[in-house]
Amino acid sequence: MDRETTGISCCFDRQSQRMFRGYEKRGLGASALSIAEALTENGLKGSTVLEVGCGFGALALELLRRGASGAVGIDLSPRMIQMAGSLAAAKGLSGSVSFQVGDGASSKLPSSKMVILDGVLCCYPDLDALIDNSSSAAEALYAIAVPDDTRFATKVVRLFLPLQGLAFGRDGFRFFVHPTRRIRGALQAKGFRLVSRSPAGWVWSVFVFRRS
Ligand SMILES: C[S@@+](CC[C@H](N)C(=O)[O-])C[C@H]1O[C@@H](n2cnc3c(N)ncnc32)[C@H](O)[C@@H]1O
Repeated sequence: MDRETTGISCCFDRQSQRMFRGYEKRGLGASALSIAEALTENGLKGSTVLEVGCGFGALALELLRRGASGAVGIDLSPRMIQMAGSLAAAKGLSGSVSFQVGDGASSKLPSSKMVILDGVLCCYPDLDALIDNSSSAAEALYAIAVPDDTRFATKVVRLFLPLQGLAFGRDGFRFFVHPTRRIRGALQAKGFRLVSRSPAGWVWSVFVFRRS
């Protein structure tokens, strides 16, 4: 692992318990629910799903509950992957899901009908590598939740990004607002067309693409 991916995996190893407590209290967040709805409306039943940056696996497990035939979750954080395995066992879904440590931008990914990324590209510096590698695994649908740079609240958040070194330190985690125009361009170049764009909360939007 290079310095950047080590920074991400260490950060989310540390954040995993706090994030899990949030999920126990409030359930899935707005972007995850929006992705789940979009996939349900676009033929989720009987489909295979790959979640890149799956965290502790709550969304992948929700998609199984809604009828996906199988799911794979990949994440850089070993602690998140361990927790995802425990959550799957607690929900009685271990037989239909596999969680593995890996880098969505460079690991060989299993081909799946639907590929999803919820709040992942904003942690990763290399937009092109992550979109190129993860979308290559999508047979039909690609759904991605990102901070949407065309929205007012996101423009305000972006003003503060140069200060994040103070909070996270020199080698630590960084939050990125990648231009949505570039995200759309990268997916169009890979043969996908945008089928929906839905706001989720103040900052995020969920983009759903279909392979042409
Ligand atoms: C903000 S968390 C979101 C986790 C989960 N999707 C959720 O919404 O609860 C971002 C996750 O993406 C993972 N991640 C970031 N870049 C990644 C990459 N290139 N490959 C795999 N996982 C990545 C991090 O380790 C972290 O668990």
